Amino acid sequence: MNAIEIKNLTKNFGEKQALAGLNMTVPVGSIYGFIGENGSGKSTTEKIICGLIHKTSGEIKIYDRPLTDPDVRASIGVLIEQPGCFSNLTVWNNLILQATNLSIKDKEEAVRNVLRLVRMEGSASNKFKNCSLGMKQRIGIAMALLGNPKLLVLDEPINGLDADGMRIMREVLTDIAKSGATVLVSSHILGELEKIATHYGIIRGGKMIVEMTADELEKSCPTFVAIGVKDKQKAKEILNKKYLKVIEDEQKELLRIYDAESPEDIVKYLYDNDVIVNELKTDKIGLEEYYINLMENREVK
Ligand SMILES: Nc1ncnc2c1ncn2[C@@H]1O[C@H](COP(=O)(O)OP(=O)(O)OP(=O)(O)O)[C@@H](O)[C@H]1O
Ligand SMILES: [Mg+2]
Repeated sequence: MNAIEIKNLTKNFGEKQALAGLNMTVPVGSIYGFIGENGSGKSTTEKIICGLIHKTSGEIKIYDRPLTDPDVRASIGVLIEQPGCFSNLTVWNNLILQATNLSIKDKEEAVRNVLRLVRMEGSASNKFKNCSLGMKQRIGIAMALLGNPKLLVLDEPINGLDADGMRIMREVLTDIAKSGATVLVSSHILGELEKIATHYGIIRGGKMIVEMTADELEKSCPTFVAIGVKDKQKAKEILNKKYLKVIEDEQKELLRIYDAESPEDIVKYLYDNDVIVNELKTDKIGLEEYYINLMENREVK
């Protein structure tokens, strides 16, 4: 079963078409990384899923049920933009208030649970306004988790976080997915997303252009040998006689060879042609480079 199944979703804001027939499939238990340039329609899609705005047309099923089903609404936790918290109340009281709104029976137990999940047990008595950005984002997730949602929808939750904040957020989201919930998370920080996502959806101009699993991404990201040499032009000419795919890397520092049998072959071949290799590594392209190549309509290499 899928947690989210969207077919041919459109959304118009007056003249502006934000979603132009989007299809999306988010499997149960996945951490689905939702990627796309500014204005491509990520937040709009997420807002429609959470019932914050209405679709223009199309079909949406959450755990096989329509969005209009009241049980479906209750099964979605959401953090889009800022968490709706009172600045002067403590973290604890904000969460108790939300638990009251949701008519949760054992409020204190529920709040203790979500605080533990987002690693905030020690900060319950802080006023919300005195919390750091990273803490506020985690409080937002705690609020979203209070109703025990099967689906958590997060819009750029790692934006602006420092390295430690990102690490904690990674752990929190991984724990949530392990507990059986599904996480839909949009982000521009692809290096971070790649560490936790099990699935990806890449949106452009309001349409899904690629959906794939992390394994499929891994398979479509080729490995290469990167070498450093004094005279890149000369080395490139020599390499081009033997190897088909030789390009300069983004920083224009190293030459990448994609179809080498082994790094040793390259070093020996160049040495035989009077070129000394002064740096050597094997690497693999990642999500970020895959995405950039895709956006620029280049072959993934
Ligand atoms: N309330 C609105 N009224 C008019 N146009 C809107 C509204 N909300 C979004 N749009 C437009 O819809 C398109 C999609 O916006 P959306 O916020 O979904 O993009 P996004 O992928 O979340 O971008 P970002 O990465 O910048 O957050 C944009 O062109 C945006 O200007
Ligand atoms: Mg957005």
